Amino acid sequence: MNLTLNLVTVEHSEHKALLRQKTAQIPFPLSPEIQQLIRAMKEKVMALGGVGLAAPQVGHALNLCVYVISEKAKLRRADAAETIPLTVLINASYEPLFGATEKKCDDWESCFSVTSTSKKVARYRRIKYTAQDELGNTIKGIAKGFTARVLQHEIDHLNGVLIIDL
Ligand code: NI
Repeated sequence: MNLTLNLVTVEHSEHKALLRQKTAQIPFPLSPEIQQLIRAMKEKVMALGGVGLAAPQVGHALNLCVYVISEKAKLRRADAAETIPLTVLINASYEPLFGATEKKCDDWESCFSVTSTSKKVARYRRIKYTAQDELGNTIKGIAKGFTARVLQHEIDHLNGVLIIDL
């Protein structure tokens, strides 16, 4: 069965309040419905040609996002140092690597849920993040540069924060 996902936007969607909610933690093992949602989100982010997609953007207030940095996306950013395969993050959070002393840098961002604008957003250069994979294993990592930017953007969605707030 295919799940059709429609994008929720702040400008047009009747469900836009979803974008402002703090999302719910997801229990393990994943239900068949969540597994189906994850498959559909992977397909959607690839179909959109995006670097990330968070569950609230497709109508679900769940702590779940997918991200991917293709070679093409990497080439567009001076601070992109790596490609990342399509990855699922569940129950994700992040913090700046060295707390309040971690530096931020500005760069352009756009968002499928904010169709009216692209803007420069100040993001931490380095973060540490934690999440779970689809089996419930803990994922911990340090991300830098563009990867850190993408993760901050997507995990912010899981806390109801959009680029227009920053
Ligand atoms: Ni976004």
